Formats: sequence, C-alpha cells, structure tokens
Amino acid sequence: MPQINSINHVAIVVEDMEKSLHFWRDALGIKLHELRDVPAEASQVAFLPVAGAEIELVRPTTDDSGLAKYLAKRGPGMHHVCLEVDDIDGMMAQLKEKGIRLINEEARSAADGKRYAFIHPESTGGVLVELYEV
Ligand code: CO
Repeated sequence: MPQINSINHVAIVVEDMEKSLHFWRDALGIKLHELRDVPAEASQVAFLPVAGAEIELVRPTTDDSGLAKYLAKRGPGMHHVCLEVDDIDGMMAQLKEKGIRLINEEARSAADGKRYAFIHPESTGGVLVELYEV
C-alpha cells in the first residue's frame, strides 16, 4: 500500500514576494533556500526550510492562471498542504477507488524530476492537498 512519509511543504499564495519575504525570511529568520520562476505554472516560488519541511511562497506571474484567479477571489493566504508519498501512482489509484475527487488525473513531472498531483478541496474538507513523490 502507498504510504505518506512526511509533510513536504505548506504553501501560501502571496501578492508581493518581497513583502512576504520580509516576514518569513527577515523577521522570522528562516533561511531562503530557493527563489525561482516556474514558467509551466505561471508562478514564482520561494522555499524556506523549517524542521525537515518547507514553507512555500507562491506568487502568480500572469493574470489568467488558476492561481491568479484564486488570489483575485480569496486574497493572499494559505493555499495548499503537500504530503510526500512513496508511490504517487499507487496513492492516486487508491484515492480514485475511494471516490476522492482529483484535480490532476495523472501525476505531473516538475523540472527537477519530482512528480506531483493535486487533490480537490471538495473531497478534503476545504483544503487543497498536493502529493509529491520525490
Ligand atoms: Co506545492
């Protein structure tokens, strides 16, 4: 059976990256591990490691992505929780079998080789959940 191994990251959607980094990096003192553009997702992301997990700050770079619409509708704040799984295909099959609504029918591959997929908040109690297979 596929297993969840850890919380990989908690993601926060932000309007202004520098303003957010002022809190997370400068005021809390968490080291900025990575800041990069993700053209495939029309976003800029920052990763700040905390105790084996990471805070992900994500900012839309266009006006028409799903993320940009989310930000326009709900404003900045909590966006998703990402769980690390040992077998993403197995887990997605298990979720489908249990009637859980997925956003991605198949796992997608990130530029760094990580595989990921999102689970619809309708099936999770209102929280967008991401799965990662590293
Ligand atoms: Co994420």
